[in-house]
Amino acid sequence: TSSSFDIRRVGGRIGAEILGVDLSRELDTALVAELNAALLEHKALFFRDQQLDDADQIRFARLFGELTTAHPTVPSVEDQPNILPVDSESGVRANRWHTDVTFVRTPPKASTLRSLVVPPYGGNTLIANTAAAYRDLPESLRELADRLWAVHSNAYDYAEPPKTEAAAEHRRVFVSTKWRTAHPVVRVHPESGERGLFIGGFAQGIEGLSESESRDLLRILQSYVTRPENTVRWTWAPGDLILFDNRITQHYAPDDYDDLPRKLHRVTVAGDVPVGVDG
Ligand code: SIN
Repeated sequence: TSSSFDIRRVGGRIGAEILGVDLSRELDTALVAELNAALLEHKALFFRDQQLDDADQIRFARLFGELTTAHPTVPSVEDQPNILPVDSESGVRANRWHTDVTFVRTPPKASTLRSLVVPPYGGNTLIANTAAAYRDLPESLRELADRLWAVHSNAYDYAEPPKTEAAAEHRRVFVSTKWRTAHPVVRVHPESGERGLFIGGFAQGIEGLSESESRDLLRILQSYVTRPENTVRWTWAPGDLILFDNRITQHYAPDDYDDLPRKLHRVTVAGDVPVGVDG
């Protein structure tokens, strides 16, 4: 616990709500250090009732490091180069377990999501603890995973064709420049030293294995990430903000809100090159 704010754990293995901090105000260095410590411990922090604007969200994210541009291929919000619109009306539905932008060499360290329009039902965000997933693996699989590298790409074979014209257009833009980047399957967290599975929706194959071997092994490893025990589920209210550590989480937005509008703004903090267990 901390003296500056209250922490209420949400999931048993991941996620905590931070109470008593107004993110629209100037936050001092000591408070930011406490928030960073809470982020390392809980991996996803939830802030209710913040009612921030774009500038506030950018200022808050900036406390944790340099920002990335909104996205490598998807255009930002107009005049806001750091803000990615996550807007169902533009065909964006992140209903696939993933870690943001792992197909580049230096995937973002952390992401913030802020709710602008929340559907009256559904539209939650699920976040998974990939360190808990790693710890849950049998030792033989941990030892195997420690040695593997996965190839991540944004040009993956989508299992399902897009359902709407907007979704088809979003996909076209998303894959307009293609990346393929190998990362260790087990990532050592640069601040906490924890090991976590670093795979998710952009991980398409495992180096040295065939396509079908890769698929089977990734499915087995991924099943530990998405165990309900290793996840937390956030029900959005307007004005909420989530901060999560991309180095040790995955997330998923269930597509269960029909044609209702859902709109978030995402700002991501730049990260480093993922490091495996052998350094
Ligand atoms: C994302 O993957 O960036 C968006 C997650 C969400 O829509 O909840």
